[in-house]
Amino acid sequence: MTAGQERTLILVKPDAVRRNLCGEVLRRVERKGYRLIAVNLFTPGRELLERHYSEHVGQFFYEPLLEFMGSGPVLAVIAEGERVVEGFRSLAGTTDPTTAAPGTIRGDYGRDWEGVAKQNIVHGSDSPEAAAREIALWFPNLPSA
Ligand code: RTP
Ligand code: MG
Repeated sequence: MTAGQERTLILVKPDAVRRNLCGEVLRRVERKGYRLIAVNLFTPGRELLERHYSEHVGQFFYEPLLEFMGSGPVLAVIAEGERVVEGFRSLAGTTDPTTAAPGTIRGDYGRDWEGVAKQNIVHGSDSPEAAAREIALWFPNLPSA
């Protein structure tokens, strides 16, 4: 990786894949100036989701979240750029899609649907340490850069 660059894990969640929004999310990431390093579209299994969301074990939304995230294909993406971790969180908007600011991905495309787990279009790693952990989970065969 080039000096000064960092990487983040983005997940285009099953609600967005079902609504054909993969291109829209990638367009915003690229338009911002971040570089795509790897993409993979697949339906994640229970074990991967348990490891990804281990910090949320015991939360009221944990089981519904795993069910939602395993309900169909997810587009896993590694993006790279200066401060891309916080930059993508900013592009994504806040967790609750109803109140996420218009202009953000969640604010423009997310809404509260039936169900406990919030279906909010995308995931983005929340720190460089989380990004490294999550990238290793979702892209175990990525050659180290
Ligand atoms: P993410 O990890 O997906 O990027 O989202 P986040 O940091 O904004 O939110 P986090 O607190 O990590 O929650 C993970 C995902 O769980 C679902 N959730 N539902 N019903 C609820 O109150 C609730 N809270 C969280 C959302 O899908 C959220 O993105
Ligand atoms: Mg999170």
